[in-house]
Amino acid sequence: DEINLAQLDFWLRDDVDGALAKLRRERPIAWHEHPDCGKGFWSVTRYADIAAISVDTATFSNRWSIRVNHDPEMGLTRPGSSSIIEMDPPQHTKYRKLVSRGFTPRRIGLIEDHIRARARALVDSVAPKGSCEFVTEIAARLPLEVICDLVGVPSQDHDYIFKLSSESFGEYDPEVGVTPEQGSAAAQELKAYGCALAEERRRNPKDDLITLLVEAEVDGHRLTQEEIGGFFSLLLAAGSETTRSAISHGLVAFSRFPEQKRLFLEDCSAWAPYAAEEILRWATPILHMRRTVTREVDFGGVRMREGDKVAMWYISANRDESVFPDPYRFDITRDPNRHGAFGTGGPHFCLGHNLARREIAVLFEELFRLLPDIEAVGEPVKLRSNQFHGIKRLHAVFTPVR
Ligand code: HEM
Repeated sequence: DEINLAQLDFWLRDDVDGALAKLRRERPIAWHEHPDCGKGFWSVTRYADIAAISVDTATFSNRWSIRVNHDPEMGLTRPGSSSIIEMDPPQHTKYRKLVSRGFTPRRIGLIEDHIRARARALVDSVAPKGSCEFVTEIAARLPLEVICDLVGVPSQDHDYIFKLSSESFGEYDPEVGVTPEQGSAAAQELKAYGCALAEERRRNPKDDLITLLVEAEVDGHRLTQEEIGGFFSLLLAAGSETTRSAISHGLVAFSRFPEQKRLFLEDCSAWAPYAAEEILRWATPILHMRRTVTREVDFGGVRMREGDKVAMWYISANRDESVFPDPYRFDITRDPNRHGAFGTGGPHFCLGHNLARREIAVLFEELFRLLPDIEAVGEPVKLRSNQFHGIKRLHAVFTPVR
């Protein structure tokens, strides 16, 4: 079968949308085998099936890793991670609560001016040049700076954290220049940085998320170094790599659908929140999350066995024609737009969704206000990955503003 969603190069093909549509139509729950290790997993491509799996945490567990990894064990030997994304309720509920108050709409509302100032400074920095490499100069910078500020990473370390985070996400792309081993080493180094920062905050508490974690208790116990490190790297990585892709895909979409850009420009601040939703649907920065089956179950016409891996392809859910009419049209007026870019619901629904939504809305507002004719030119260079819908490079041009 030529459609195998485990294959990294599948995601670089031109006909990805067509192949996913065929799966949704003909084999909505398909068995795919990993080309390197030969192990198989279920690929789920319809929105409704993904939504059903996401809320049934008793049958579909987050332990044993959340990605269709490329290691021979597919994460089988690694239960009990220290990151909330690899926990199930009730443990998950207790840990998630520790940081969730840092991400409420109210909290994010409070930092909107800060996000805007960061966004404006980035746009100002490229404005006189007339062109830029949009990913590294804008799209990657804003989310990284904002999440570092929230967590408590000092400005002078932002570049270092950026490097580690990119390496741990780009481990399957030769161009990123790291082997999977170096990718894991970068992830470890990120964790170690978080632990060291936590140590510092134990002595000198501040008003940031790392201090919150240092002072937090679960069942009367303080978090271990391992747990704090796990939280730190999750927040950093989840908070920066994904939003960066959304922003990059967003510029591509506006460039391909100029009438949507014209509409946006008629009233930037009114359209920005709606545009952010459509950008999220369009971009779907996380292609899949994986679950592990905890008991034999009949689901969607197939029998799944204990230990089976199940990949939920959000990118396909977000093109599901039974939920989104005319799904290949980028349309900022789409209403309703209940996309699954942050997951489709359930306890793991993206913790940072309020923050990401605000960053995307604010960035495009500021970008188009100052550089209304900015356009992506040439083909975006995609990241080779089956989990992250990333863009590595994107050239953009505009009339310079001095
Ligand atoms: C979980 C997407 C931004 C933190 C998730 C999940 C998805 C996702 C698909 C898993 C949902 C599930 O399994 O049901 C995205 C996208 C983003 C984004 C597309 C940006 C465009 C952020 C930001 C943060 C963040 C800015 C900030 C810290 C997290 C965390 C989890 C998570 C901590 C795990 C939650 C849990 O397991 O309870 N995100 N995310 N994300 N996201 Fe995001």
